[in-house]
Amino acid sequence: MKLSSRIDVMKPSAIREAGKLIAAKENCISFAAGLPSPDFLPIEEVKEVTEYILEEMGHIALQYGPTKGYAPLLTKIQKMMMDKNILCSTDNIQITTGSQQAISFSAMLFVDKGDTIITENPSYLGALASFGPYECNVKGIDVDNAGMKMDLLEETLKSDKRIKMIYVVPNFSNPTGRTWSLERRKALLELATKYDVPIIEDNPYGEIRFEGEEIPTIKSMDSENRVIYLGSFSKVFCAGLRVGWICADKELISKYEIIKQGADLQSNQLAQMQIDEYLNKYDLNEQILKIVDSYREKRDLMCRLIDECFPKTIKRTHPKGGMFVWLELPEGADAKELLIKSLEKNVGFVPGGPFYPEDGHDNTVRLNYSNMSLEQIEKGMLLLGELFTDEF
Ligand SMILES: Cc1ncc(COP(=O)(O)O)c(C=O)c1O
Repeated sequence: MKLSSRIDVMKPSAIREAGKLIAAKENCISFAAGLPSPDFLPIEEVKEVTEYILEEMGHIALQYGPTKGYAPLLTKIQKMMMDKNILCSTDNIQITTGSQQAISFSAMLFVDKGDTIITENPSYLGALASFGPYECNVKGIDVDNAGMKMDLLEETLKSDKRIKMIYVVPNFSNPTGRTWSLERRKALLELATKYDVPIIEDNPYGEIRFEGEEIPTIKSMDSENRVIYLGSFSKVFCAGLRVGWICADKELISKYEIIKQGADLQSNQLAQMQIDEYLNKYDLNEQILKIVDSYREKRDLMCRLIDECFPKTIKRTHPKGGMFVWLELPEGADAKELLIKSLEKNVGFVPGGPFYPEDGHDNTVRLNYSNMSLEQIEKGMLLLGELFTDEF
């Protein structure tokens, strides 16, 4: 059977591949997958609201619904956006099946075969994977601790006339945990305006801030509807419900709505109603505070143990929020080979190379701290420390 050419460029996720190796081991301590903590999944609350929904509104919950999304939830999302100083109405919102779908839809909306998408270097692996079917080029622009390097971005914008969108994760990025400064956000908006390119601002981790002042989103500074903001309930509520959203210009939202119709008609109606009803009955901010307190403690422990137990030649980021720490091992190290050795000690992580659009960077590692317990982090980091001390 002849398959399409597009499938040739689509690779399996390195995280899921590492996950398979890890799953094959019993009781493995895994810093690999970007899973939220199991401690804060609101199981009882979801049970309660589901029973209520099915009793009172079962005929709506189990029926087809509008493509744009469940109206009461659209209104709540609009308010959440206004609280972030993003002026909008429900006409500016489209609900999606997680923000993952919104990333893929954005490439569908802006990118033709042979065009270029700019990302951070490294960037979110799921975004890179979702760009594959569009048969486009993806160029990564190097970052430092304040965000994408603007001189490099401008050079690329000048030299490549086929750049159709810039995809960024400015808050507590996946995979590095880094956050963009206000200056860099403004500079990105200026350059995107100068070269007339849309910005996709993906912000699933923005609420999980451990310290410091919130930095305004790029969308909140966007006076000409250049920024497409992506939000998600995955990291602060339930990833399994698969509900995210796009906040953008009304005309663009009407195009996203057409794409959504073609892709899957609508997002899961019951899941949207579960979130809506939860928000009616409970305070999501209380849930977020619990998550933040727990992840901060885990971040502190992981970073302290890296500093105490890893060789000084290993560099790490210092995330002020989110779920990840990023390591740079000495030049020449191969994290894929190290993963095999670390699995012998029953500890897993994700090699960082696949987070770069181009090959290389095999000496990098992403560590997740949200999913394991404090005890598992302590044990796993000591074991990784032993391995890295032997190696470097
Ligand atoms: C940066 C980033 N964007 C989007 C997603 C996808 O999230 P969702 O569950 O909303 O599809 C993830 C998930 O890990 C992510 O890290």
